[in-house]
Amino acid sequence: MSDEQRKVGRRDFIGKAAAAAGLMIIKPQLVRGTAANSSVRVGLLGCGGRGTGVATALSQHPNARYVALGDLFSDQLDKAKQHFDGIAAKKGYAGIDPKLMFKGPKAYQAIAECDQLDAVHIATPDFFHPEHLSAVVAAGKHCYCEKPTGVDVRGAKRIKELGKKAEGRLSLDIGFQIRCAPPYVEMVKRIHAGAIGKIAQASAYYHATTLTYPPRPAGTSPLELRIRNFYWDRVLSGDIIVDQALHVVDICNWVLKDHPLKAIGTGGRKVRDDWGNIWDHFDVIFTYPDNVRVSLNHVQWGTWMWDVAERFFGSKGVSESHYSGIVGIYGEEPWSWDGGGRPISPSANFYALGRKDTAEEAAGTFHGALDEADPEKTKAFVESILTGKYHNQAAQGAESTLSAILGRTAAYTGREVTWDEVLASDQYYDPELEGLDLSSLEQSS
Ligand SMILES: NC(=O)c1ccc[n+]([C@@H]2O[C@H](COP(=O)([O-])OP(=O)(O)OC[C@H]3O[C@@H](n4cnc5c(N)ncnc54)[C@H](O)[C@@H]3O)[C@@H](O)[C@H]2O)c1
Repeated sequence: MSDEQRKVGRRDFIGKAAAAAGLMIIKPQLVRGTAANSSVRVGLLGCGGRGTGVATALSQHPNARYVALGDLFSDQLDKAKQHFDGIAAKKGYAGIDPKLMFKGPKAYQAIAECDQLDAVHIATPDFFHPEHLSAVVAAGKHCYCEKPTGVDVRGAKRIKELGKKAEGRLSLDIGFQIRCAPPYVEMVKRIHAGAIGKIAQASAYYHATTLTYPPRPAGTSPLELRIRNFYWDRVLSGDIIVDQALHVVDICNWVLKDHPLKAIGTGGRKVRDDWGNIWDHFDVIFTYPDNVRVSLNHVQWGTWMWDVAERFFGSKGVSESHYSGIVGIYGEEPWSWDGGGRPISPSANFYALGRKDTAEEAAGTFHGALDEADPEKTKAFVESILTGKYHNQAAQGAESTLSAILGRTAAYTGREVTWDEVLASDQYYDPELEGLDLSSLEQSS
């Protein structure tokens, strides 16, 4: 075990008192019925890159509009207002009312309780998801919450409990958008129907480039720096395996219809010289029921390669699925995604080699499974509200987050860790954000 593993391992299972769970009161008048001709009014909490991106996809729905914004910082709010006012102008309705822009550490409560909203879209840093979702569910609003469902065992369990409270009354989606991507949906359907036979083993990888943010001005407080740069902060993001490789762990759970029972792992911060304390690679071997082993390899560094893929090896064939590339099955029942009737970009299989799309490509060209993931996911969320056929993805989201936490714990401690042990641990990551009193930030933005 390295020094790094030992240091984190000690901390990993330390439990500290969590904030008491909030009392939940569903307000039935805010739960939408089946009025298909009225718009779902959404508020965005966390107006950064992902929130704005998903909200742009969601805004394409003719019966949905963003009417409120919440963020810690006014620069983020201002940028988002400009963006959503542009969308509103194109759709022919009014922009964001400044009265519905909530700023500061209590913005999450204000947006949760805002009576002009049917749904809240949470896209804040990972650590905050359980607390923010708790406020939204307590206020009786539908929610699209980004993954992961927290950064520790306590957070993930809390979201699972919130799911039980929302069951049948609210739509609660968690941001695993690949589960809505048509090529993946078709592949998993075929695997579940037996196209590759009995699965013996799988290999999954997430090979990512490093993340970048604009440099922060001199004098930015350490607290603000941590929150603005949360991806690089092990507690606020859960480290790269929980924040990012989680997506492929979720795909493995989906295909194998279960969670891993145990894991061994390793990893470290070997070449990374950017800010923060996250690792740059993880290697984990998960054991699923029936002794199916999944080897996960995760790298987040450099600017040269981005490729995400899974291969499932079965008695009758092998599946191969890339975010940007082939999604198909080799073997007795061969199949591959044909672009869904759209022309396939010649660059689709070669993102890993740094090729970019060519300017001449026709509109509607298929580039990869991610193309339709957000549009399909957000459309399904809006329609679940409009039709009253509510989603509840809390348990599945929590299970995938806990699976990634299992892998992280195995890698941090350098020993075999079981699912039962992780669940029993009450693991809590203390962000030490001055007791979560973020009020000092109100002055700084
Ligand atoms: N599903 C996916 O594929 C995917 C992809 C990228 C990011 N994400 C997730 O989306 C979330 C946001 O990521 P991002 O890339 O947009 O990050 P970002 O840093 O660009 O945006 C986060 C926003 O939240 C605000 N914020 C921070 N703390 C807050 C608080 N306590 N209250 C209110 N606002 C707060 C920040 O000011 C910022 O505007 C993360 O959970 C991330 O894991 C998901």
